[in-house]
Amino acid sequence: MSNVIIVGTQWGDEGKGKIVDWLSEKADLVVRFQGGHNAGHTLVIDGNVFKLSLLPSGIVRENTVVLIGNGVVIDPFHLIKEIKQLEEKNININPDNLIVSDSAFLILPIHQIVDEIREKNNGSKKIGTTGRGIGPAYEDKVGRRGLRICDFLNKDEFESNMKKIYDFHNIWLCAMGEEKQDYKDAFNKLWNIGKTIIKFIQPSWLIINNFKTSKANILFEGAQGTFLDVDHGTYPYVTSSNTIASQAGIGSGMGPTAMNYALGITKAYTTRVGSGPFPTEDNGDDGNKLGTKGHEFGTVTGRQRRCGWFDAILVKQAVALSSINGIAFTKLDVLDGFKEIKICVGYEMESKKIDYLPSSSVQQAKVKPIYEIMKGWKGSIAGIQNIEDLPYEAKLYIRRVEELIQCKIILISTSPERSDTIVLENPFDVN
Ligand code: GDP
Ligand code: IMO
Ligand code: MG
Repeated sequence: MSNVIIVGTQWGDEGKGKIVDWLSEKADLVVRFQGGHNAGHTLVIDGNVFKLSLLPSGIVRENTVVLIGNGVVIDPFHLIKEIKQLEEKNININPDNLIVSDSAFLILPIHQIVDEIREKNNGSKKIGTTGRGIGPAYEDKVGRRGLRICDFLNKDEFESNMKKIYDFHNIWLCAMGEEKQDYKDAFNKLWNIGKTIIKFIQPSWLIINNFKTSKANILFEGAQGTFLDVDHGTYPYVTSSNTIASQAGIGSGMGPTAMNYALGITKAYTTRVGSGPFPTEDNGDDGNKLGTKGHEFGTVTGRQRRCGWFDAILVKQAVALSSINGIAFTKLDVLDGFKEIKICVGYEMESKKIDYLPSSSVQQAKVKPIYEIMKGWKGSIAGIQNIEDLPYEAKLYIRRVEELIQCKIILISTSPERSDTIVLENPFDVN
């Protein structure tokens, strides 16, 4: 039995979906513990592409059970849409292989409206959210007025609480000169969709505990990335949940002493979607080339991702924040064809050298990267599955990254395909 947590170490889109899918071979249960359908996780299996936002990536494996934990915010309309999309691809989804936590909070239609209108009003200071209502849904959760999946069990209570939430948000919408939202129509639609979801619901902690008791392997699938964490990220340009490894237990119902391994997913360069500081962002030819070769367009919104060189300072910080045991290093093949590869090894801020990202967004914006330059390799490494087959320069790059981030690289991904993965250590075999 072993429990492995997967987290992104940058600003999301590191390739978590591919690695979760690959590792699911050894997992009996795969659990999402935060975020919602703002995530976009891509799996490629023998040329078939699956894009998942809310369902844990283990769902495509025949004998794997997946659980949407209590820490996730759920848009029920999206959940049903995603289930249907997968069923069209012959993935069988039923209450035996999908469990939805009864205490996960709901994203209501008004949350999405508030998200979009806020972004519009923020002008140049907008966060660049996915517009899916994630922030307002989490706000209602901590504001103790949110609706949960288990509220689908009591119609009158659901309706009266939903009205209260609409009243709350309508005050702001009307003050901003926006249209007042009627809760009644939204309630009827939501209640109907709730009927199709009820069959999947169970207490998350109980499921986890049952799997734990039967000595199963559990894989916790993080969404977003460390620097989108609401406490530890580039606030306020973050998402509204905790994305680091400690959240896995809170968002599912398991204590920290039961966790065995934290696996960080790290892209061989850096990308970011949405606004906010990005010290190694490259708006020139190199950034363009990384974006084109890496197909850096958002899975959820289709937005072009901002691109830049690898930032070892940032990833070293992520390793510390999640006490990461090993790294899966992804998209190394995208660096094919670069004569020189830059690594950020320190920051300069107000003429001083620093080796961590400061907390203040004003200071973060002032940080300038200090680069070390390494030699690129000739030819293509795409699809390589054995470490011996990597060119010398690629191996040197990996070693230097390990040194700088103070963590070992245990998996290397060389293409979007499940099988194109170099394995040095399997986290499930470590204990
Ligand atoms: P996630 O949000 O962390 O799951 O990552 P996304 O799925 O949003 O973005 C990663 C993209 O890179 C997807 O299109 C993957 O298919 C692709 N990808 C994953 N690993 C590799 C790799 O090693 N090489 C290449 N070229 N693409 C990869
Ligand atoms: P995966 O799991 C990359 C970003 C948005 C925005 C900020 C807040 O695929 O790595 P939100 O809608 O969450 O309120 O937006 O967070 N963001 C992501 N960026 N990958 C993601 O998920 C993201 N989920 C949210 O672009 O900057
Ligand atoms: Mg993604």
